[in-house]
Amino acid sequence: MNLFDVYPLFDLEIVQGRGAWVYDKTGNKYLDFYGGHAVISIGHAHPHYVNAIQSQVSRLGFYSNSVENPLQEKLASLLGEISGFDDYQLFLVNSGAEANENALKLASFHNGRSKVISFSGAFHGRTSAAVNVTDNPRITAPINEGFENVALPLNDQQAVERELATGDVAAVIIEGIQGIAGIYEAEPQFLKFLQEQTRRFDTVLILDEIQSGYGRTGHFFAFQESPSLQPDLITVAKGMGNGFPIGGVLISPLFEARYGLLGTTFGGNHLACAAGVAVLEVIRKEGLLDHVQKVGEQLTTGLQSIPGVKEVRGRGLMQAIQMEGPVAELRKKLLFEHHLFVGSAADPNTIRILPPLSVTVDEVNLCLDKLEKASLSVSIPT
Ligand SMILES: Cc1ncc(COP(=O)(O)O)c(C=O)c1O
Repeated sequence: MNLFDVYPLFDLEIVQGRGAWVYDKTGNKYLDFYGGHAVISIGHAHPHYVNAIQSQVSRLGFYSNSVENPLQEKLASLLGEISGFDDYQLFLVNSGAEANENALKLASFHNGRSKVISFSGAFHGRTSAAVNVTDNPRITAPINEGFENVALPLNDQQAVERELATGDVAAVIIEGIQGIAGIYEAEPQFLKFLQEQTRRFDTVLILDEIQSGYGRTGHFFAFQESPSLQPDLITVAKGMGNGFPIGGVLISPLFEARYGLLGTTFGGNHLACAAGVAVLEVIRKEGLLDHVQKVGEQLTTGLQSIPGVKEVRGRGLMQAIQMEGPVAELRKKLLFEHHLFVGSAADPNTIRILPPLSVTVDEVNLCLDKLEKASLSVSIPT
């Protein structure tokens, strides 16, 4: 059987990882400033994480959600404590799209409506409702267009208020920082406005922190730059499992659970929870939030002096550089000649930089050095 050929691949097989480094099958070593789409949070093969998964799988990898699972409670309690949302409830799933799918569903259950407001450039996943609120018609099939989605410009308060005033909007969904679009951020006053206005119109506010959350910006959630924000629902995945598939919806006390309302076979399984608990323990024990603030500032300053950079966006370890023209050649050069992984974005001129949260000062300097050398040696078409 052949694989369904949907992924354009680099001619590279990664067989091992440690910290911020990965190794290919011929022994070449690469600095990983992308973490496989912003997934690696505490670093590849962190010993505490490896031990936790190994010891759990040797006892019990899986049993269903029909029996008690104290690991889920441990995960929820740690997540509540570290994020500051300990009065919220947690529903566990397996991926980011699934987290958003369930959040949208909860919103619609809550107020009985089905229209959703999303934002230009948004990416929320590829399942049915999640892809319908994603700003990319090429990945939305007719079957996904089952409810009305209105994509509004980011930071446009008037457009949001006009739409909310129709009184039929189930949810507003917004990324803490837009990732795939190329690292674009809502203004703090816009998020505050969304909170006030969604409350006024009994609409549910969903913060998608799948890429921007779990410490990536130096706050646990990117939106915590505005300390008073209390979204109704917060979705997480990616860094939550450091590579183990796990996602979740943090649900405000406004929402009441009832048996059967949501469900999944694999979500919250023992092995996933062991991975999730280990990630949070490492984030706390190693003080990674403070660390990210520090190396994030170092990264911003360094990126600003890379030749050819037009704009640096983002904060913490979720940053992007926008060059004068397309970056495809530069990315290839970085990977194959300088052995540095960085990410692309929907904007062809933008490179995303998303290293593990545990990346060191020296590794940031090394990355900046590689970026400088590569950008000096490649001519970017304008
Ligand atoms: C902001 C955001 N939301 C949702 C998703 C979907 O997550 P997953 O690929 O785990 O379904 C992504 C993935 O890139 C994302 O960046």
